[in-house]
Amino acid sequence: MRVIIFGGAGFMGSNFVRYLINSWDDVQVLVYDKLTYAGRVENLVDIMDRIKFIRGDISDHDLLKDTLRGFQPDLIVNFAAETHVDRSINDPAPFIKTNVLGVFTILETLRKFDVNSFIHISTDEVYGDLWGKGVYADELHILNPSSPYSASKAAGDMLIMAYGRTYGVRYKIVRPSNNYGPYQHPEKLIPRTIIRFIIGKKAVIYGDGLQVRDWLYVDDFSRALDLAIRRGVHGEIYNVCAHNFASVKDIVLKLAEIMGKDPYEDVVRVKGRPGEDRMYAMRCDKIKTLGWEPLIGLNEGLRKTVEWYIANEWWWKSLLVDTYVSGDEPW
Ligand SMILES: NC(=O)c1ccc[n+]([C@@H]2O[C@H](COP(=O)([O-])OP(=O)(O)OC[C@H]3O[C@@H](n4cnc5c(N)ncnc54)[C@H](O)[C@@H]3O)[C@@H](O)[C@H]2O)c1
Repeated sequence: MRVIIFGGAGFMGSNFVRYLINSWDDVQVLVYDKLTYAGRVENLVDIMDRIKFIRGDISDHDLLKDTLRGFQPDLIVNFAAETHVDRSINDPAPFIKTNVLGVFTILETLRKFDVNSFIHISTDEVYGDLWGKGVYADELHILNPSSPYSASKAAGDMLIMAYGRTYGVRYKIVRPSNNYGPYQHPEKLIPRTIIRFIIGKKAVIYGDGLQVRDWLYVDDFSRALDLAIRRGVHGEIYNVCAHNFASVKDIVLKLAEIMGKDPYEDVVRVKGRPGEDRMYAMRCDKIKTLGWEPLIGLNEGLRKTVEWYIANEWWWKSLLVDTYVSGDEPW
């Protein structure tokens, strides 16, 4: 099996590449990644000699064509995206360029090559804020995105479905809930909080911290994606979630407990961003019919993640200069 992973140097992509080469027989993996601020060869350093790597943009039609012609993949998985909601509010352009035009460029390339399967990683955020609505979104739920990030992801999904119907592109779309685990960029809540505690700073909660997310340990996602690839049906969408609901505040307080911090002394609240979605909630029965169950509960997953960040200071130390990492509070 010859597999190209777009965005394989990011958080979820690199975890999936590692999973793939350790659990599939006879697999050849090519990671194609632009290496934005979020993509790092450090994420793949332990497995670099077992994969091929090309630095490239999914919006670069010529390089995509050359790469597909040269590698002749059986399967393409697309993790490549701009992913940080706050960045999308400050500057939406890169989100439209990668998450919409980039997906369009992949699809145009796929029209000319006979690739057996294209798997696209979408997000639960395309269903929008479900706070107070008393519903869990299944795969047929209306798309109602709130931010430039989630709107750009929804647009990418729509294009893929249209190319499936119009040109016969064989696709599957997978929509995970909030992932966490090793190699996640410190701009995101869980690594940011862990690292701040490690270096002796206070953790920061933006706004009231009552935004509820459904947390999924990244290895559980990799196993779900594996099943969607092997047993899923082309032209279908698969939600992936564990129903580990916890608010931002819950997460920070759990991490404080795990790391021996004082929830009053070591945590501060600062002004939040207006219009932030209160709750994402999906039904995930369909992926379970393929034989998937999450194995890592929230407390265990958080402990494993804390241990990884404590043991891998080399990986995150150089990332602490970015303003989105530090927020209102300097490191
Ligand atoms: N992390 C989560 O909790 C979460 C939840 C739901 C869905 N998702 C989706 O999963 C996917 C992966 O998320 P992540 O958290 O690993 O993201 P990430 O930001 O850690 O990594 C994104 C990767 O894509 C690469 N990239 C960005 N633009 C590119 C381009 N134009 N061409 C080629 N490569 C490009 C980056 O260099 C990076 O390696 C994304 O599509 C995201 O929307 C993430």
